[in-house]
Amino acid sequence: MVLYRKYRPKTFSEVIGQEHIVRTLSNAIEENMISHAYLFAGPWGSGKTTLARLFAKAINCENRKGHEPCNKCSACKEINDGRAIDLIEIDAASNRGIEEIRQLKEGAKFAPTRLKYKVFIIDESHQLSKDAANALLKILEEPPQHVIFILATTQPEKMIPTIISRCQRFDFHKLTVPQILKKLEFICKAENIDIEKEALELIAANSSGAMRDAESFLDQVITYAKTQNIKKITTNDVKDILGLIDVNIISQFVDFLIQKNPAKCVEFLNKHLEKGLNPFEFAKSLIGYLRSGLILKIDPNLDNPLLENLTLEAKSKLKEQLNKIEERNLRKFLKIFLEAQNKMKYSPIPQLPLELAIVEICQNE
Ligand SMILES: Nc1ncnc2c1ncn2[C@@H]1O[C@H](COP(=O)(O)OP(=O)(O)OP(=O)(O)O)[C@@H](O)[C@H]1O
Ligand SMILES: [Mg+2]
Ligand SMILES: [Zn+2]
Repeated sequence: MVLYRKYRPKTFSEVIGQEHIVRTLSNAIEENMISHAYLFAGPWGSGKTTLARLFAKAINCENRKGHEPCNKCSACKEINDGRAIDLIEIDAASNRGIEEIRQLKEGAKFAPTRLKYKVFIIDESHQLSKDAANALLKILEEPPQHVIFILATTQPEKMIPTIISRCQRFDFHKLTVPQILKKLEFICKAENIDIEKEALELIAANSSGAMRDAESFLDQVITYAKTQNIKKITTNDVKDILGLIDVNIISQFVDFLIQKNPAKCVEFLNKHLEKGLNPFEFAKSLIGYLRSGLILKIDPNLDNPLLENLTLEAKSKLKEQLNKIEERNLRKFLKIFLEAQNKMKYSPIPQLPLELAIVEICQNE
């Protein structure tokens, strides 16, 4: 199991940072002052889904201690295993939620089957279609007694104000380097990994405040160390691995894409993943590269600061590639890979959405 799933906090005390939110939710649980709708807004990988599930678990726990769920009763276990039928998670990003909201409207009418509360967690809720958002608003205007909504979003400014005003809002913060470091140290201890503190700091500093990014980066470092038989991981090892995602890998991959050779693309990707390439970093770099391509395509002479992260060599190679791609196709590449990147965090196999994207791109004109 990947680290960020394995080490998802199962109690409030394990949550790092977000103290203002943990405190308010804990009090609400202890005083049984539960709202019908919550909005969890903030950067990705900062604990929104984690706290939503924790909250759902605590209010449904049959044996709660203070505000903490017991993690032993059937309600806790079902939620921990992701098989509680009264905890419904809807991902508005991948299906825009129309069908789901329809089901939600139906489902919300009925009392929970097994748990005390029926909890709907709506992820990336700013992406709900207009119809879906309006349907949700209707429900929020007269919420059934036993139903609780937790809307999560990375872009609250895109949500309709009438929905926001019906929710109790919590703003999540990016995690700081010391906060991330604390958890990375904990994981390394639990996993028996020998690694320099400075190396962990480097990982924490390169995670843009997202715990998930830090944890999957650590995963990558550990995999690399195992394949290379490294006993104690150093700062230099981490630097090496950071450098693994160099622009040459991306540009070679784009060559195979242009050749419309899905087998080569998938093989090349997986070869590098086995060597420790992080699929999330790969997707990010690939999209950055294609975006540079699009900018150059619009105006080849443009001296855009966005291209500064490309070396001269990489820039001329990219220009060469651009001669072989139409702008229309380049936009298609970007669109498909952006969608894939969005789906990766929900996928049991992180690279699977990338592989599907490759097949899609190589198949049709
Ligand atoms: N505050 C935190 N304390 C401890 N671990 C955290 C925290 N936030 C995130 N994590 C770790 O990162 C993983 C992903 O977190 P989570 O799914 O809660 O993020 P999110 O805010 O919902 O992100 P997204 O917007 O991408 O859905 C968790 O499984 C956990 O391992
Ligand atoms: Mg989430
Ligand atoms: Zn319990």
